[in-house]
Amino acid sequence: MLVHTIKEVRDIVNSWKKQGLTVGLVPTMGALHNGHKSLFEKSAKKCDKTVISVFVNPIQFCPGEDFEKYPRTLDADCKIAESAGVDLVFAPNPKEMYPNVQMMTSDFLTYVNPPFFYVNKLCGKSRVGHFDGVCTVVNKLLNIVQPNFAFFGEKDYQQLVILKKMVNDLNISVEIIGCPLVREESGLAISSRNKYLSESEKQDALALSKILFNIKNCFQKGVTDIAALKETAYEFLNEHHTLEYLDFRDAETLEDKNIADENTRVFIALKVGSVRLIDNISLK
Ligand code: PAF
Repeated sequence: MLVHTIKEVRDIVNSWKKQGLTVGLVPTMGALHNGHKSLFEKSAKKCDKTVISVFVNPIQFCPGEDFEKYPRTLDADCKIAESAGVDLVFAPNPKEMYPNVQMMTSDFLTYVNPPFFYVNKLCGKSRVGHFDGVCTVVNKLLNIVQPNFAFFGEKDYQQLVILKKMVNDLNISVEIIGCPLVREESGLAISSRNKYLSESEKQDALALSKILFNIKNCFQKGVTDIAALKETAYEFLNEHHTLEYLDFRDAETLEDKNIADENTRVFIALKVGSVRLIDNISLK
């Protein structure tokens, strides 16, 4: 079932709750793919009812980013959702979520600001304000749907850590469940932004997963020196690549690591032509 208003979602979820049913929420920006599908299936397995939101959230895009051209494919999204056991698709328009559309700055809208410590690294460094927009919209969606569980992919690992922190700090009554990243057979992490890649750029995009797999391989052979592990990346980079970061961080706290160990997660952001891609891997 597809609905567009907050009232409709609330009425439907309330009727489920009255029957004692558990509810899972998977927030998305649409352009659904197998990565999303795996989240829906997880929720459908764990919860009696699964709600997904499809909303390209304007306030999490920074100036100059791809808000206008972000793929919007609602009809196809509904089919994928249905095939993965989703009970309700909530696809609000921006006016429904932000009635005062002209005034979406923090001068006029109550924002949720995650702590600087979690934001001033990885993607937060170049995407200033991005996680404020994510936390604000996810907080709104959690308030609208009031699910028992909410599911997020480890592809956006910093987002997952920040949202867990938000829910904990603000005592929001939901359990956040992180789900493994899904890869294409080639190794490329599945992402809605892969749609921007030409065939040759898709080949260049394999550098992300190759770098991460190779680092994990070297770590498993006993290399723990981070400078040495970083050095191994260069053999996979060419003139089409711009490396934004390659960081080794604690998987729970995102603190910088001095030496690689099993609690380390490796994060990469790389531009292939003009397309910015991210990926990450656990060294466990
Ligand atoms: O991960 C995403 O697609 C978005 O950041 C989210 C969580 C749906 C919020 O708009």
